[in-house]
This record gives sequence, structure tokens and C-alpha cells, in this order.
Amino acid sequence: MGPLSAPPYTLHITWKELLLTASLLIFWNPPTTAQVTIEAQPAKVSEGKDVLLLVHNLPQNLAACIWYKGQIMDLQHYITAYVIDAETIIFGPAYSGRETVYSNASLLIQNVTQKDTGSYTIHIIQRGDKTKGVTGHFTLYLETPKPSISSSNLNPREAMETVILSCDPDTQDISYLWWINGQSLPISHKLQLSKTNRTLIIFGVTKDTAGPYECEMKNPVSSSRSDPVTLNLLLELPKPYITSNNFNPMENKNVVALTCEPKTQNYTYVWWVNGQSLPVTPRLKQPGENRILILANVTRNDTGSYECEIQDRVGSIRSDPVTLDVLYGPDVPRIIPPFTHYHSGENLYLSCFADSNPPAEYTWTINRKFLQSGQKLSIPHITTKHSGLYGCSARNSATGREKVSPPSVTGRISGLNPI
Ligand SMILES: *[C@@H]1O[C@H](CO)[C@@H](O)[C@H](O)[C@H]1NC(C)=O
Ligand SMILES: *[C@@H]1O[C@H](CO)[C@@H](O)[C@H](O)[C@H]1NC(C)=O
Ligand SMILES: *[C@@H]1O[C@H](CO)[C@@H](O)[C@H](O)[C@H]1NC(C)=O
Ligand SMILES: *[C@@H]1O[C@H](CO)[C@@H](O)[C@H](O)[C@H]1NC(C)=O
Ligand SMILES: *[C@@H]1O[C@H](CO)[C@@H](O)[C@H](O)[C@H]1NC(C)=O
Ligand SMILES: *[C@@H]1O[C@H](CO)[C@@H](O)[C@H](O)[C@H]1NC(C)=O
Repeated sequence: MGPLSAPPYTLHITWKELLLTASLLIFWNPPTTAQVTIEAQPAKVSEGKDVLLLVHNLPQNLAACIWYKGQIMDLQHYITAYVIDAETIIFGPAYSGRETVYSNASLLIQNVTQKDTGSYTIHIIQRGDKTKGVTGHFTLYLETPKPSISSSNLNPREAMETVILSCDPDTQDISYLWWINGQSLPISHKLQLSKTNRTLIIFGVTKDTAGPYECEMKNPVSSSRSDPVTLNLLLELPKPYITSNNFNPMENKNVVALTCEPKTQNYTYVWWVNGQSLPVTPRLKQPGENRILILANVTRNDTGSYECEIQDRVGSIRSDPVTLDVLYGPDVPRIIPPFTHYHSGENLYLSCFADSNPPAEYTWTINRKFLQSGQKLSIPHITTKHSGLYGCSARNSATGREKVSPPSVTGRISGLNPI
């Protein structure tokens, strides 16, 4: 007697009995050729929908049918069973709450999830048949969702960076396929697939391997392809250089614009003055993306070495320095030493100094009349006849400016001052 064929079970079946039932069934039923066939309705089902596993070619004298998840018929994989005579449904450990078995052995699975995919086994027991049961197998696949490609990096530096592309979502029982430029992947040491083929590693992306890439998810019931993803190569950074409207501007007169070339949208520009990154002052205007540096009212303090740097996500490169040589002055000249009284017979050594770029040319005057040119004035053994109003003037040929020392204060030598 088969365990489920005689006196009908009541609704109160204990787990112990069920376990016994399951083990007896295995013991009594060595694998036989499946005669029943199973069909999914609808043939393509997507997550969240219902599917009915229809059983065809049911044998006569049905006593019970048991559904298992997977191919192993043990208690752990036992979903549910229908006992015909008792009109009883029994649930097992693999029952999720969404399966309904009918008297014709068909199994309805509601609100299908990814976990429901995979194989199912039905075991059919016939009345009066002690040794034989009939089994049928079915593999449930869900309709593949449209995959998408995610990339570790969409702008790799050419030939430098490794990019990892993944085909999402990560799903069981699915084959992943990749396409580049509409072709299946070439065999190349620069391309490496993960074990499941879901992840593609591209070593040192070049123009040839920049894309477009597509991935496909495929199972026996459906397949779908992602939108293409193309990698944008980040080209080598070009070495920048600085151009200017004027490398020798005049103080308080010229506006200087320094421009970092080349112009590209994708770079960040940074300026360096005498090796320091540019201090932020309202005087320094940086229109747009810092590519142009405007020195609004240039002063001698702007003299220096300028560099520009371009940066992208991966690296940076600096230009050669250029020198901004601000022309200025002369300032009001000073006569050194500033003494105005000397003893007769002393040696008189005077020099004149005015800050100026380029350096000033100096002339000396006495009583407003030209005396000599040159920065220094030297008169040995002075006498009273050297008394007078000495002055010095400084001239900058580049700026065209000339300044005269204040004669009455520092320039005056009032002559002999006998002690
Ligand atoms: C089995 O029963 C279910 C539910 O009543 C029904 O939808 C299905 O068509 C039946 N299967 C067969 C093969 O008749
Ligand atoms: C289907 O399952 C999902 C997740 O398990 C749940 O959020 C949803 O409410 C279920 N839908 C129905 C109609 O049962
Ligand atoms: C991965 O793809 C290769 C061909 O590109 C195929 O031969 C292999 O069977 C696939 N592996 C898996 C696990 O799908
Ligand atoms: C430039 O600066 C100088 C001194 O700071 C000032 O006298 C002059 O007015 C300024 N010129 C302009 C155009 O801002
Ligand atoms: C700048 O980036 C855009 C998009 O990121 C890209 O299409 C373009 O080719 C890049 N330009 C250069 C010169 O690299
Ligand atoms: C230049 O800098 C010095 C020191 O910071 C300052 O004293 C001077 O006034 C500045 N000169 C000009 C023309 O801005």
C-alpha cells in the first residue's frame, strides 16, 4: 500500500508523518522516465505576475501529487501536495505562501519573484501502485528585464586606466553577453570577463576599446539588450603655455591679460605667481573658468614669474614660467648722505637713488644748472666756492618719466661751516 493511497489523511498531518511520507516516497520510487509534461502559462512571465504550471498527460488513478522546488525530492524541497481522496492540501517547508496546487496537479504561483525561478519537480502517485510514481520536471524562467550597464569610469585616461563595466541587474539563471560596436567581444588580453560574464574589465582603454558597449541578458524564454554605453577617452593633457597682451606693462597705466592656452571646456585652470598659487584679491579678475587672468591696474608688485596649470580629473600639468616685468618709476630720488654742511677741505661723495625699472639715468645739477651725469657725484677737497643748491634728477627712458630730488632739503649743501 502506498502511504497516501489508503485511509485518507485527515487535515491534521504531523510533520513526523510528513517526513515519513517523503522518505517513503523516495524509497519506493526510484527515478522513472517522466511521462508528464509541464507547461507554464503564460509562457513568459515577469516579476510580480502570476504563473500556472499546467500538468499534461496526467496518469490514471491519481492518488496524490507533490511539488518540489528543485530536482531533489526531500522534505526540505517539499512545497505542497494534493491528496485526491482526502481533497487535502499539505504544505511543506518550501511553501512560500503563494503556491496553490489544484486537483488536476497544476500549480499556481502568484506574484512571482526572482527566487521562484529555477527547476520544479512534480511527483505523482497512482492509486494501488506501490512502487512507481511518475515525475515531471520544469524550469521556470522569468522574462529578462532590460539590463543597463554601469561603469566604474566613463572618462578613462587613454591607455592608462582600467574600466569595469557591469551588466545590471545581477540575476540567477541568466546568461550575460557583451557587444562592442555591435559585434561580440573579440578575444583580447585587454578584455576580461568575470566568471558569470556579468562584469567586463577593460585594461587600458584605447580608441579601439572605447565602445559603444551593450550587454544582453538571456535565458531560454527571453533576452533583452541594454542601451549602448560609450566610454569617452580623456586625452593626454597638453602642456599649457601663457600668452599676454603685454609682458612689459607700465605701472598704473596698463591692463595686463594673461591667457592660458589651449582653451578646452574640460579642464580646470590654476595660476601660480612666484611659485605660490594665486592669492585671491579683487584686483585679479579671472573671467570664465580661470583661463584668463586680468591684472586690472598693474603695479611693480605684480612683477614676477607666472605659471598656469591645467587639471583634469586624473592629473595636471604646468606651463613654463613667463616673466611679467612691470616698468615703473622713477620714484622721487633721494641723495645720500643727506647732510648739508661740510668742512672746507673735506671730500664730498654723494649718490642719488630712485627706484625705477629699468634703472634710472641720473644727472646732477648745481643751482639748477647741469653739473654732470651719473649716479655718483664726487668732489675732493671742497671749498666755499662749491657751496650751492645741489640737485639730482632721475629719468626712466622706458616710462619716459623724470623726477627731481627735493632740492631745498636733502640736496642743499650750504657750503663751508667752519668749526
Ligand atoms: C487545472 O486547474 C486549473 C484551476 O482550476 C485550471 O486553470 C487549469 O486549466 C487546469 N489544468 C488543466 C491541464 O486542465
Ligand atoms: C508581490 O511581492 C512583493 C514583494 O514580495 C510585494 O511587495 C507585493 O505587495 C506583492 N504583490 C501582491 C499583489 O501580492
Ligand atoms: C561567458 O561567455 C563565453 C563566451 O564569451 C562563453 O563561452 C561562456 O560559456 C560564458 N560563461 C557563462 C558562465 O555564461
Ligand atoms: C591704479 O592704481 C593707482 C594707485 O593705486 C591709482 O592711482 C589709479 O587711479 C589706478 N587706476 C585705475 C584705472 O584704477
Ligand atoms: C570634453 O568632454 C565632453 C563630455 O565629457 C566630450 O564630449 C568632449 O569630447 C571633451 N572634449 C575634449 C577636448 O576632450
Ligand atoms: C608693493 O608691496 C609693498 C609691500 O607689500 C607695499 O608696501 C607697496 O605699497 C606696494 N606697492 C604698490 C605700488 O602697490
